[in-house]
Amino acid sequence: MTEHTFIPKPYLNTIENGKVTWESPSNIALIKYWGKKKDQIPENPSISFTLNNCKTITSLSFQKKETTSDFSFEIFLDGEKKDDFKPKIQTFFERIEVYLPFLRDYHFKIETQNTFPHSSGIASSASGMSALALCLISIEKQLSSEISEVYFNQKASFLARLGSGSACRSIEGDLIVWGQTMHIEGSSDLFGVKYPYKVHDNFKAYQDTILLVDKGEKQVSSTVGHNLMHHHPYAKNRFLQADANFEILKPILESGNLNAFIQLIESEALTLHAMMMTSMPYFILMKPNTLEIINKIWKFRQETGLHIGFTLDAGANVHVLYPKNESFEVLEFIKNELVAYCQNGHYICDQIGFGAYQLTMDN
Ligand code: PMV
Repeated sequence: MTEHTFIPKPYLNTIENGKVTWESPSNIALIKYWGKKKDQIPENPSISFTLNNCKTITSLSFQKKETTSDFSFEIFLDGEKKDDFKPKIQTFFERIEVYLPFLRDYHFKIETQNTFPHSSGIASSASGMSALALCLISIEKQLSSEISEVYFNQKASFLARLGSGSACRSIEGDLIVWGQTMHIEGSSDLFGVKYPYKVHDNFKAYQDTILLVDKGEKQVSSTVGHNLMHHHPYAKNRFLQADANFEILKPILESGNLNAFIQLIESEALTLHAMMMTSMPYFILMKPNTLEIINKIWKFRQETGLHIGFTLDAGANVHVLYPKNESFEVLEFIKNELVAYCQNGHYICDQIGFGAYQLTMDN
């Protein structure tokens, strides 16, 4: 399969206007993607839990227009016009135009909102870009009569990837692999696929409590961070390690070995941040409270034997991961000992989810 698969045949139907709404979740990587080639092709495979509660709800209204010389769109976040989002969407439209040739035919109104606070330090790019990609492919589905469910999901993921790499892992759940690896049958650099092997019940309804350590803007964007992997002294080994970690993760997911799971995901999180600290220029996204929390988690785990672990995104917030049946004790610990390290005491309770949903479609 190549990207040409996603260039559509001439459309058979015409539509004047309409509106479509999708909600799409965020995701949290267990094996991390950090470093990419041209056209958002990842340097190494990654796998994530799809989240359930942290999501973006996007409505896309479209109206046929007279001229097709330019893209025409406006964006609203929580009902407020957001012109500063326009360059990102313009770039996205330019990248995906060849795959969605109707883009210049319509004026679009994008209305979006997140279920998590905008300034929470939680990236909205995965949920936001996947929600928008889903709205767009829903329009294509009306224009063309030939779209199967499999193609729909693959193309949605493919388009989302061109907006933000990790967004391609938000279309479905509950465990999604992105990036070609011989360890996962059917894996692709072009789009995310469902993890195809057996997963132990220990991982059903796995919990992710996100501790909001720093709600500010990141000092270094993901785009800049990915680019710093190009001449990174440890890049080659890191990419090999991520690939090899799939071979370690597979028996863990099958057997439900939580201690081995924790060891792998914590190592992945710290390796991601180690890559940042050893790039040139180097940078640190963790904050003192990130480290305080990590040390508290380790101490609590040692004292109680509970299966609490952490992972980190490209930021200071800590994702606390634990099985559902240990929720009571872990939440008590979080409230009593970790909330003090969160900005304004804020945290978000989430758990593994099953992907995006279409809310409405009118025309
Ligand atoms: O999707 P991007 O380009 O914002 O990259 C995000 C990469 C990490 O979140 C740090 C890791 C991952 O695999 O999600």
